[in-house]
Amino acid sequence: MKNGRATFGSRLSAILVAAGSAVGLGNIWRFPYVAGENGGGAFLLIYIGCILLLGLPVLLAEFAIGRNSRRNSVGAYKSIAEKSKGWSIIGYNSVAASFLILGFYFVVSGWTLEYFITSVTGDIAEYTSSTINAERFDAFMLHPVRPIIYTLIFVLLTHTVIVMGVQKGIERSAKMLMPLLFIILIVLSIRSITLPDGIEGLKFFFRPDFSKVTAGTFLDALGQAFFSLSISLGCMITYASYFKDDTDLRTTALNVTLLDSVVAVLAGTVIFPAVFSAGIAPAAGPSLVFITLPSIFNTMSLGAVWSAIFFLLLVLAALTSTISLHEVLTAYVHEEWHLSRKNAARAATLATALLACVASLSLGIWREYTICGSTLFDALDLLTANIMLPLGGLFTSLFVGWKMNGTVLHDEITNRGKLKFGMYRAFVILLRYVCPLLLLMIFLYNSGLFSL
Ligand code: PHE
Repeated sequence: MKNGRATFGSRLSAILVAAGSAVGLGNIWRFPYVAGENGGGAFLLIYIGCILLLGLPVLLAEFAIGRNSRRNSVGAYKSIAEKSKGWSIIGYNSVAASFLILGFYFVVSGWTLEYFITSVTGDIAEYTSSTINAERFDAFMLHPVRPIIYTLIFVLLTHTVIVMGVQKGIERSAKMLMPLLFIILIVLSIRSITLPDGIEGLKFFFRPDFSKVTAGTFLDALGQAFFSLSISLGCMITYASYFKDDTDLRTTALNVTLLDSVVAVLAGTVIFPAVFSAGIAPAAGPSLVFITLPSIFNTMSLGAVWSAIFFLLLVLAALTSTISLHEVLTAYVHEEWHLSRKNAARAATLATALLACVASLSLGIWREYTICGSTLFDALDLLTANIMLPLGGLFTSLFVGWKMNGTVLHDEITNRGKLKFGMYRAFVILLRYVCPLLLLMIFLYNSGLFSL
């Protein structure tokens, strides 16, 4: 405990918990198809550049805010900004964005659970072509209750971990689930690469095709880096508020970034060899994981087993991320509204469950109701990814770069001078000028106010 607040037990826990938030559907579901559509290895190179230039500095900045204030993401800005209360709007933006993201993230997480369970029961095994699988997926979404039940089970799983507390719930689950996730990923990667023609898939994934790279590719890579590292949503601030005083923020940020990128790359080495081995066109977009892959698994020997393992991987990745988003809400309601932690968690669960159910129905029986032409599900995704995330990141970098006291910031990152931070000047320059500029561009581009 520190100032009446729980802390994570070890340095490794800090890394695993933060990596749990970062590693999610964004790495395994989204990264491979975005990379596939944007020139494979070329996208990978650009992505790594974005992680270094934008992801790492903002992540480190959020760690510093969180541990320095030891508060939830709204309280953190309030306490560091002192009299300039306006800055706390960044915190409110992060709480609101976490809530809205959970609205659609829980729905997709529910699908992963359905696929896992139907793989275990063997029900999915008969769907061996993409066309039949697409029909099955559509029928599932149009069902009035089934997707909702899976979404609600996922909400309950998340809730259970949160009410168990910071150490017994969040920390312990990350220590169990993250190693398991890595083992599964490596096993699946080996299985996939050794399939006939699997190497062709690797070539496709790694060979840089610069002809596919446009200016938009850079902004896509930036957006992906941001979402993948869970930054500007308060998750990393809230988690860092539970770090110990001697946790090294620099190496924690570096390790989390590294693990997150390794998982994204490994996910590509699971998906593309399998796709090539089945002779399917690789740029299958978002349906790659829910439609193309299950049909491939079902033509393999022991298909149901591989399918179950793959969807378990998605369930684990999604769960550690929903836990972190839920914790943002729980910590905020608990500390700012002065409810007990249990009641705060209940309130957050109830509100997000309701939103997720409506979002799920908006893809099914309520398809015809749209907001500016999009379903509620898509609207939640677009609003958060295109507007709230880049704006949150923009103001976070401005806050740390310009407003936060330089000595306090330096002291926080170096553990009061015990560690060296040779890159400090570069870090501040990135936060002051480079990150705000890039984030402003992403925001203007995504909101359609600027085109390339
Ligand atoms: N980083 C997670 C992913 O890659 C998603 C996420 C975003 C989780 C923001 C928490 C906060 O899927």
